[in-house]
Amino acid sequence: MPEKHIHLAAFMNAGPMATVGWRHAAARDDFLDAAYYTDTARLLEEALFDLIFVPDSLAVPRSLGGRFDPAVRYGAGSPRLDPIPAISLMAGATRHIGLAATTSTGYNEPYNVARSYATLDHLTGGRAGWNVVTSFQDAEAQNFGFEALPPREQRYARAEEFLEATARLWDSWSDAAVVHDKVSGQYGRPDEVRAVDFQGEYVKVQGPLGVPRPPQGYPVIVQAGASPSGRDFAARWADVIFCSHESIESAIEFYSDVKALAAKYGRDPDHLKILPAAAVVVGDSKEDAQARHHAFEDLVEPEAGLSRLAYHINVDLTKFDLDGPLPEMEVAGVMGHYREVLEYARTRNLTIRELGQWYGARTEGYLVGSASDIADGMEEWIDRGAADGFMVVATHVPAAFADFASQVVPELQRRGRFRTEYTGKTLRDHLGLPRPEREEWKNRAASTLRKATQP
Ligand SMILES: Cc1cc2nc3c(=O)[nH]c(=O)nc-3n(C[C@H](O)[C@H](O)[C@H](O)COP(=O)(O)O)c2cc1C
Repeated sequence: MPEKHIHLAAFMNAGPMATVGWRHAAARDDFLDAAYYTDTARLLEEALFDLIFVPDSLAVPRSLGGRFDPAVRYGAGSPRLDPIPAISLMAGATRHIGLAATTSTGYNEPYNVARSYATLDHLTGGRAGWNVVTSFQDAEAQNFGFEALPPREQRYARAEEFLEATARLWDSWSDAAVVHDKVSGQYGRPDEVRAVDFQGEYVKVQGPLGVPRPPQGYPVIVQAGASPSGRDFAARWADVIFCSHESIESAIEFYSDVKALAAKYGRDPDHLKILPAAAVVVGDSKEDAQARHHAFEDLVEPEAGLSRLAYHINVDLTKFDLDGPLPEMEVAGVMGHYREVLEYARTRNLTIRELGQWYGARTEGYLVGSASDIADGMEEWIDRGAADGFMVVATHVPAAFADFASQVVPELQRRGRFRTEYTGKTLRDHLGLPRPEREEWKNRAASTLRKATQP
């Protein structure tokens, strides 16, 4: 059997790289300028990445003691530019690479989100992706008229309706709806366009969308939920799942659980690509890479790390003894990050303060070593059923991506694990995903799947 190919996404903030990435001597300082994005996108396209992924958050974090000071002081989670203009710029500078931005289902409406991503998909010739998030901070909720973050079940219930409505809007024009006949004067076929008339508990939309069906049918859907409801949602709707794990064992558990869930919903599990985060530090040797990693960790101010952790799990850590252990608790924030942090703290017996120091420099799933060590690690994760590829996180931009591109990519290519040219046109082509037929949403939405399984 041929060896499984590795998919690569590049994780890139529209702003400084988390907590300390911007302090690195080789980090570019111009993340408020267009050239930072266009230059990095060209570099990643030359390295033949499947896609660039831009995360997002809709607030200056203030989970630590209710103050935004640490986030501003240390550049931890702030500033954050709007990812859609950022990926639009990157799209204009490239021809092949996929581009995914993050948009919340909590504080938007299906019509404007369906429209933005359909537009991006047209303007990029089918290279757009949408990272669907339900958002996880009180500070974000408070920027949109809420007192606090709505409970997780409610966030996912809204996201479920949101996805169904959005997919139906993308389907509101059939693939045959555009005639564009200058001679007869007919642009579109009204019989191939229909209203949506979606009436949910959280979202309502009449439709049709003002944009023809996207080239990819639906732009690629990315998701990162790790809680039981997050996994169920992702198993139905996602084309790509982004996750982070502290060990290969927890990655294998997650991978097999979500793939089995996808199969239960009648999907081909191979049409759901799981990409754990891999923060890559490449050196000439393992020792050289470790020295680089330690130098990076030394840049962290403990308060900045604590602030970042508090923001990710949406828990004010100042209410606990910082010199005691992280307690077991229900977190409203990112369950995936919390589980990972708890696993790390338990195995090393760390206090909350020590965890903060570590978390400040943590950029999910470190792979530290020579190019050959990193390729070995990636192959192991692929072959043991922990991943279909990786979300490569750069400690600093663009130099960490450049190191990866010049050293690890050729090593993966030598091993027959990574493409040597783009062979398809769309992001779905790069990922080996089929183009959804019109009405594919019926195979994904909880509303129709429930009806189908009822006697
Ligand atoms: C690796 C990873 C990256 C994430 N990136 C974002 C992001 O950029 N913006 C965001 O609002 N949420 C992000 N999330 C949060 C998830 O999308 C999800 O909303 C959150 O984890 C709550 O769902 P859960 O409890 O099911 O995990 C991320 C989660 C993980 C695990």
